[in-house]
Amino acid sequence: MEKKSVSTSKVQIAQIMMPNNSNPSGNIFGGVIMSIIDNAAAIAALRHTHHNCVTASVDRIDFLSPVYVGNLVIAKASVNYVSHTSMEIGVKVEAECLLKGTKSHIASAYLTFVALDENDKPTSAPELILESEEEKRRFEEGKIRRESRIKKRKRVSPNAPCIDRSNRRGLSF
Ligand SMILES: CC(C)(COP(=O)(O)OP(=O)(O)OC[C@H]1O[C@@H](n2cnc3c(N)ncnc32)[C@H](O)[C@@H]1OP(=O)(O)O)[C@@H](O)C(=O)NCCC(=O)NCCS
Repeated sequence: MEKKSVSTSKVQIAQIMMPNNSNPSGNIFGGVIMSIIDNAAAIAALRHTHHNCVTASVDRIDFLSPVYVGNLVIAKASVNYVSHTSMEIGVKVEAECLLKGTKSHIASAYLTFVALDENDKPTSAPELILESEEEKRRFEEGKIRRESRIKKRKRVSPNAPCIDRSNRRGLSF
């Protein structure tokens, strides 16, 4: 399988925060930011593998500063580490005030995505080509974090589908 550079799948997405994104105190609801993080990471995983990918785990997310209505939330995601079928994606989130032009780092997270084949079984992801010292550092750090995640991993018997999706029309890769 062809190896891929980190820059091939790097992604930046942005969304302006509307009043319907806020919690009762008027700040932006944490779940909105978590959804943006998951979206950005999913795009990087899909770009890297060209397969359907699912979120297997999310490491702790620290919300460093509140986000307000009117902020532009920018999420930058890139593949840090690839194991076999799984990848660690790092996401950094900033909030920009479009009126003042200021930006704040508001959250960061590491997510693990798994590439799936057409039968929804884990399938190989391309190895990473590491081009910079920073990419090499992130790869080594991602490898250490993976070891710790694997040790903590819980296994359950799979949930069965409750509707028949045999005729589903989704993305085909
Ligand atoms: C993630 C999932 C595909 C793993 O499937 P599985 O049959 O248990 O597969 P495996 O045990 O072969 O694991 C596949 C890879 O996932 C990794 N993995 C599985 N669970 C993990 C976890 N909790 N954290 C990090 N990595 C995990 C394994 O280490 C393995 O990586 P590798 O191939 O790079 O070594 C399966 O648990 C699943 O479908 N979960 C639901 C995902 C989902 O629906 N997410 C959306 C939110 S509900």
